[in-house]
Amino acid sequence: MVDSGKQVYTTLNNGIKMPLLGLGVYDMYNNEAEQAVDWALKMGYRLIDTASMYENEIEIGNAIRQSSVKREDIFLTTKVNNSEQGYDQTLRAFENSLKKLDCEYIDLYLIHWPLKESRKNTWKALEYLYETKQVRAIGVANYLLPFLEELSTYANVVPAVNQIELSPYLFQKSFLEFCKTQGIQLQAYTPLVRGQRFNDTRLLELSKKYYKTPAQIILRWAIQHGISAIPKSVNPIRLQENFQIFDFEISANDMEWMDTFDENLRVVEDPMELL
Ligand SMILES: NC(=O)c1ccc[n+]([C@@H]2O[C@H](COP(=O)([O-])OP(=O)(O)OC[C@H]3O[C@@H](n4cnc5c(N)ncnc54)[C@H](OP(=O)(O)O)[C@@H]3O)[C@@H](O)[C@H]2O)c1
Repeated sequence: MVDSGKQVYTTLNNGIKMPLLGLGVYDMYNNEAEQAVDWALKMGYRLIDTASMYENEIEIGNAIRQSSVKREDIFLTTKVNNSEQGYDQTLRAFENSLKKLDCEYIDLYLIHWPLKESRKNTWKALEYLYETKQVRAIGVANYLLPFLEELSTYANVVPAVNQIELSPYLFQKSFLEFCKTQGIQLQAYTPLVRGQRFNDTRLLELSKKYYKTPAQIILRWAIQHGISAIPKSVNPIRLQENFQIFDFEISANDMEWMDTFDENLRVVEDPMELL
């Protein structure tokens, strides 16, 4: 992990670099997504996380093409939707996403959810896309331990990234350690718990101590654990706020304290239901 004071990058298991902090664009419609990505790129964000399911790939592509930031300096993720899973369907879905994004390549392509009946063939299609150099890295989302164990029985490529719901309130420390030993980069979705714990008095105490907002404390906690985080915002002030986390450090004691905030709190459905 290299901390440049402005952005932190991690090196994925195939040697490519990915910023740890990015912008998630779920639940952005009409012109919101294009505007948010435009602002974010100007502020220094270099990772954008979209998905076929979010129905805003066209707007994301527009914002990236219109930006003065070079395409090679942007890390773009999209995901195969549940309704598009299966070998041939996934190859078609990838083509559709490329067309909508109107760009030459995608940096990271993920399986959005581990659907029992199709996840194996979907992964095989992702491996084909990777081996034929149509995508720079492949990974999974919502793959808790049993899904990763199953995947390892047939995968030729180890996922570069696993995007799961994660926050101080849903920490999964041993899973983080496991993924590190496997060379899989964890990425936290809903890292802000959609604002549901901003009034936690312990978080407010840390906020006061470090002169940072609750959102900044939570995001910094993730980055210091080496976890990628993709908070969503359509508001320029909050976008800026979420990006200003590279000018302070949470002490080791406070990191340990935050680790104890875990209460197994999920705001998105539990992937184990798909086992
Ligand atoms: N792979 C998956 O299955 C999966 C599932 C869920 C999400 N994701 C990804 O993860 C991303 C983030 O998750 P999320 O959008 O569900 O939740 P989140 O990032 O935890 O929270 C977003 C919510 O918090 C608000 N917010 C953002 N910054 C704030 C701040 N500094 N202070 C106060 N409020 C703030 C946003 O409102 P405003 O926009 O008004 O600022 C929005 O309502 C998604 O966009 C998506 O890319 C992936």
